Amino acid sequence: MKEYKITLLKGDGIGPEIVNEAVKVLDKVAEKHQFSIQYEDAYLGGIAIDKTGVPLPEETVAKCKASDAVLLGAVGGPKWENQPGNNRPEAGLLGIRGALGLFANLRPAVIFEPLREASPLKAEIIGEAMDILVVRELTGGIYFGERGRKEKDGVPAAYDTEMYTVAEVERIARVAFRMAMKRGKKLCSVDKANVLESSRLWRETVIKVSKEFPEVELNHLYVDNCAMQLVRNPKQFDVIVTSNIFGDILSDEASMISGSIGMLASASLGEGKLGLYEPIHGSAPDIAGQGIANPLATILSVAMMLRYSLDQDEAADDIEKAVNEVLKTYRTPDIYTDGTKKVSCAEMGDLVCAQLQG
Ligand code: IPM
Ligand code: MG
Repeated sequence: MKEYKITLLKGDGIGPEIVNEAVKVLDKVAEKHQFSIQYEDAYLGGIAIDKTGVPLPEETVAKCKASDAVLLGAVGGPKWENQPGNNRPEAGLLGIRGALGLFANLRPAVIFEPLREASPLKAEIIGEAMDILVVRELTGGIYFGERGRKEKDGVPAAYDTEMYTVAEVERIARVAFRMAMKRGKKLCSVDKANVLESSRLWRETVIKVSKEFPEVELNHLYVDNCAMQLVRNPKQFDVIVTSNIFGDILSDEASMISGSIGMLASASLGEGKLGLYEPIHGSAPDIAGQGIANPLATILSVAMMLRYSLDQDEAADDIEKAVNEVLKTYRTPDIYTDGTKKVSCAEMGDLVCAQLQG
């Protein structure tokens, strides 16, 4: 029997609750498809600060490197807000992305059929379906550039630097083109090339890489225009590729179109098979421990893990189908509407397991 090693980074806030439900589902699907999973827990974020003094202990990096995939809940919370910038829970998240070389962040924004009425956009704008994939560069740009404080014109000032190398743009562009080839063969590269030099290099490089993928239709949008187009006519998009910071912003926007940020999964990938999978929402400290969080984004992140790191595509399809089925009747409070049944975080996990059981 094939055996996989998964590191769990449950993190803070609702992180542990949602990861526990995702683990139930992973165990169930493993049983059905005859593979086994060995889990290791490791600390990341606020909990890591509490236990070890730093948001990303060495031991966590070592455990993640020694596994087939990493499943992350969420990090951060008010308790650690006064930590210095380089010791905040979020620094742990950036640190693990960097340490594992996970430069490609895939954030699909899809509307699940039963949730179509949950989109804040009018039905005629979203149409029959919405299926956008945001490919966000994850280990470069302003998130990782030089930053600091210094005096400017005799007053205190601060700076952050956006810088991309050609090689960094080439590799993320290739990931995006390959994804487009598997989907609708349309790629939109988003930048701010009318102002930023780093964006001009980004655009030149994406155009150069496009020669390797003549079947993909490529266009370019400035980020401000893209933000507008996402709500004006989201159907025009198939795959979007963009920098770390623009991708952070646009993926939140795209996710909201689908109705609830509590539904969307993500995969962070590098050169090899090892990937880190996490819901795109945060740690929601305001509802932590109440059992009302929506575990579906984490459960759907497990589906992405099965597809991209474990080569278990059928198991991944099974989870996505089960989620779609369960949503017809059952909802956590964030996606509840009249006529459906309200369930807790744990009940939602059990329902997906029961659906997988058939
Ligand atoms: C995300 C989050 C993180 C980011 C934060 C928590 C550092 O917003 O994954 O989108 O900005 O990358
Ligand atoms: Mg974000």
